[in-house]
Amino acid sequence: MSKRIIVTGGAGFIGSNLCDYLLKNKHEVVCIDSFDDYYEPSIKRNNLTKALTSSNFSLIESDIKEIGFISDHLHGNFDAIIHLAAKAGVRYSLKHPVGYQESNVVGTKNILDLAVKKNIKQFVFASSSSIYGNTPAPFKETFQDLKPISPYAQTKLFSEKTGKEFSEKYELNFVSLRFFSVYGPRLRQDLVMNKIAASIYKNERLKIFGDGSTSRDYTYVDDIISGIMKAIDYKESKFETFNLGNGNPIKLTEILSIFEEETKGKINIEFVDSIKGESDITWADNNKAKTILGLNPKTDIRNGIKNYLEWYKNKLK
Ligand SMILES: NC(=O)c1ccc[n+]([C@@H]2O[C@H](COP(=O)([O-])OP(=O)(O)OC[C@H]3O[C@@H](n4cnc5c(N)ncnc54)[C@H](O)[C@@H]3O)[C@@H](O)[C@H]2O)c1
Repeated sequence: MSKRIIVTGGAGFIGSNLCDYLLKNKHEVVCIDSFDDYYEPSIKRNNLTKALTSSNFSLIESDIKEIGFISDHLHGNFDAIIHLAAKAGVRYSLKHPVGYQESNVVGTKNILDLAVKKNIKQFVFASSSSIYGNTPAPFKETFQDLKPISPYAQTKLFSEKTGKEFSEKYELNFVSLRFFSVYGPRLRQDLVMNKIAASIYKNERLKIFGDGSTSRDYTYVDDIISGIMKAIDYKESKFETFNLGNGNPIKLTEILSIFEEETKGKINIEFVDSIKGESDITWADNNKAKTILGLNPKTDIRNGIKNYLEWYKNKLK
């Protein structure tokens, strides 16, 4: 059945892929995005080219701090809010924590207030694997006393707690999805796979922090979208957290090899000191999402990288 859905951060990497998916499946989408300058805003505008041609799509160009403005521009009933708007990026947050507080903590509280005001009962939140910090992997949702090691991760954990409070106080289901290293078409420029591709196709030097032995549980964007779609319909409890991860951590050195094999190219690497604030490994125990949401990640790393490279090469044309 067709739904009316608000997507905050809908112009970004994950958000724009989600908007296109929702529109393709005949849902109505209202996107809220400020086109913030964490990375080139024109890339985000470009991400919405297809969505903007649909009569089921509308855009409210606004910062989520301007909640009065947003509220005035939202009309009718909505089935869910998918709250993706945030300042992303662990590394940048180490040097610029204040903006993260404003967009991620104050912004999320605003969107929760908006849900209550507009009587929207389903709230899906983009959390992050980074909230597990250096907890021994694989990470389980049942882990208590999480100690995030970056300002970005702290804002995500804090927002989960705010969401829990709202779910206890109001008629609102809060589903927190902890995304693990998402990749795919429209990938953010600050993320490593974009830098690897740029090294191969534009001969840019790739800085590797540490010796390349860190592992990430890379998860293809379509599998993340499947998780979001399940979360929209999840009404069995008022507050729940789910890991959305592939369940298979891969060392950066292995990622580099796959890129070189698939492109027959050469990566120009410079090794520099590792950075405090980044975890050595992320690894989702994804059994909860499998059992309760019926999710099974479908895209393995090699096929995911092939899809990403196809998109990347098209973009260069
Ligand atoms: N990409 C990943 O691997 C990953 C992993 C874990 C969690 N997440 C989370 O998923 C969400 C989407 O991530 P992404 O990779 O697509 O990032 P992105 O930066 O491409 O998208 C975020 C979008 O939010 C918008 N935005 C930022 N601050 C805003 C504000 N104050 N008001 C309105 N709009 C604002 C930006 O303009 C952007 O379009 C974020 O919440 C991020 O923290 C992403």
